[in-house]
Amino acid sequence: MDPSQVKIPPMKDLTVDNITENAIRMNSLCEDERTRYVLERLVTHLHDFAKETRLSSNEWMTGLRFLTEVGKICSDVRQEFILLSDVLGLSILVDSIDHPKPSGSTEGTVLGPFHTHEAEEMGQGDLMSHDKNGEPLLVVCTLKDTNGNPIEGVKIDIWETDSSGHYDVQHPDRQGPDGRCIMRSDKDGIFWFNAITPVPYPIPHDGPVGKLLKMLHRHPYRPAHMHFMFEKPGFDHLITALYLRNDPYETSDAVFGVKDSLTVDIGKAGPEYAKKYNVSEDHALLTYDFVLVSDAETRALREKNSKIALDKLGRKVKMVNGLPVPDLD
Ligand SMILES: [Fe+2]
Repeated sequence: MDPSQVKIPPMKDLTVDNITENAIRMNSLCEDERTRYVLERLVTHLHDFAKETRLSSNEWMTGLRFLTEVGKICSDVRQEFILLSDVLGLSILVDSIDHPKPSGSTEGTVLGPFHTHEAEEMGQGDLMSHDKNGEPLLVVCTLKDTNGNPIEGVKIDIWETDSSGHYDVQHPDRQGPDGRCIMRSDKDGIFWFNAITPVPYPIPHDGPVGKLLKMLHRHPYRPAHMHFMFEKPGFDHLITALYLRNDPYETSDAVFGVKDSLTVDIGKAGPEYAKKYNVSEDHALLTYDFVLVSDAETRALREKNSKIALDKLGRKVKMVNGLPVPDLD
């Protein structure tokens, strides 16, 4: 569109009292109604934030400098913006809104900044961590739908730190991916592999997010966990993790990711698993039964939750592509 032909609403003499409505009017030229709605709410809340805190110019500039530093430290292997979103509790909030879970299904949690796209595909029973200092761990899982039927052929992305609490990408001299893999569930919905027992670790805290945590007197630690991501057409994309019970940081995770349903005990293989999976009886064992939700179930639940939440706020909305926009009819 020729910019000179865009019809801009007339405005001048903008004040504390009318800047918000005028900024929204300016943005309302956008044709996409969802983008328009998101921008309208973003501007409204940003302006309310400034008004309510009586934000000073110095504080505003401090905030902009902070965001600049967050951007500057980002690289292919460091995602400080995800970390910032995580420590502010926004990541877990968005996941809960966008991927609601009916009871009985596996809850989601934060992706974190260390997922990569370079993990190698691995077969059943293979070794995903080559850290000799880690405690060897046998992991045996099942994957079912909400009706209890096994799901075959799900792509499962798994990643964990080494025994020092670092992901492979945090080692500058690394030779290639380690502590991460991609697997597929078999016809019985089973996938199993060999890993190491997860350990707690601090999120990267040598950058601006670390400084923020320090200023707030918050520790940077995450309880021991292993990440999982499940993908199969027809099912809602599940990003989750399993956390070790009784970890010292179980109830104070720096990124708010722990959920009771995702907290597990590490046991011993015992005679049955030892025989079946060719390990010693006292070999560490982690088992878990994951339950995936279909796209249709998720979409219906998401829309239902949206309507209830926006109704409480007194907003009349309609759904477009599964997301709410104001209903102006
Ligand atoms: Fe992690």
